[in-house]
Formats: sequence, structure tokens, C-alpha cells
Amino acid sequence: MQTELELRGVRVCKGWLDPAAQAAMLADIRAVAAAAPLFSPETRWGKPMSVAMTSAGKYGWYSDRRGYRYERRHPSGVDWPPIPASVLAVWRALAPEAPGPDCCLVNFYRDGARMGLHQDRDEADFTWPVVSISLGDAALFRVGNVERGGKTESVWLESGDVCVIGGAARLAHHGIDRIRFGSSSLLSDGGRINLTLRVVD
Ligand code: SIN
Ligand code: MN
Repeated sequence: MQTELELRGVRVCKGWLDPAAQAAMLADIRAVAAAAPLFSPETRWGKPMSVAMTSAGKYGWYSDRRGYRYERRHPSGVDWPPIPASVLAVWRALAPEAPGPDCCLVNFYRDGARMGLHQDRDEADFTWPVVSISLGDAALFRVGNVERGGKTESVWLESGDVCVIGGAARLAHHGIDRIRFGSSSLLSDGGRINLTLRVVD
């Protein structure tokens, strides 16, 4: 069932993708990861991230000691594969006023992986929203404020849920405190995939 809630300005569309659409999208993402394998970037402080990543689209998001940025190629030198049509359809439905996304970041959370509170601010134009799709195990998603600190609120994101981080919340701090490993049967070995779509230029 599709329901909708708002968390500190973030639109959370629960159950946006039904189980068949989730399985089809997962197959598309497996093809992306076959062409552009998952890797574990370092933070700008040289610590390996617990989340493994790859990307599709014109740009991929990348991080190392030189900082956070977008790159035209996978670290192996290959072009990022195109963003799958199944993923683009979600963007078009939820960000109809925006140009097409330049990047689909694929985040893979194994047991114990998390993502600290951060802002998505490596893009040129914050007019356009960020659309974020959850597949697989449930994750505790925390949203704070544009400024550092202050009150935060959390919601469990489940497989098929989609968030739109736009408007006054475009630069809100957000992160994943933990995943409930094994809570979904979508990925046979457990884990969570998050797809983050953004206009970069
Ligand atoms: C992110 O903010 O990059 C990921 C959010 C999520 O995994 O839901
Ligand atoms: Mn983010």
C-alpha cells in the first residue's frame, strides 16, 4: 500500500515500488554493478566507508583524501553505465519539474554499515531535489536541520520506499543510523541498497 509522510520537510513515499518493481529494479542494479563494480571509498579523513558504492549516469560520486566530488569514470577507468529506465521512471514521477538526473549513486549496506549525518552539497544547483530509493533491508533514516546540530527525527525506510529531499529540506543533514540486517527477503544474502538520484551540473 502506498502512503505518504513528511519528516522535517523530506517527503517519504512508503511502498512506492511494489515487490515486482523492486525485483526488476534490483536486476537492473545488479547489471550496473557488473559493469562498474562496487568499491569502498575513503572519507576525506582517510577512513574507509562502511558502505560500498558505485554509480550510473554521466557522473559517479567519489570520495578519497582529496575530498568529495563527482567523477566522469569509475576508478577502473570505465564509463559509468547508463541509469536504468526503471530508476529514471521514479525520478520523472517524483521530480517532474526537474531536468534528468546526472548521477544515480548506488549505496550497498552490509550488516553493520551506516552513514553518518551529512548534507548532499556537491551539486551545482540546489533548486533540484534529491530522490532516494530504498531496496532490501530496513534502515533507520535520520533527518536533522540545514544548520549543524539541533533536533532530529527518524523513520524506518523499507524496501520500495522513496524519499524526496527538496525545497527547504534540500540541504538538510541526514544519515542512516543502522540497518535491520535480514529484515527483507529481496536480497537473498541480506543487505540494503539505496539509490540516490541527483542533478549535478
Ligand atoms: C545517502 O544519503 O547518501 C544515503 C541515504 C540512504 O542510504 O538512504
Ligand atoms: Mn545523502
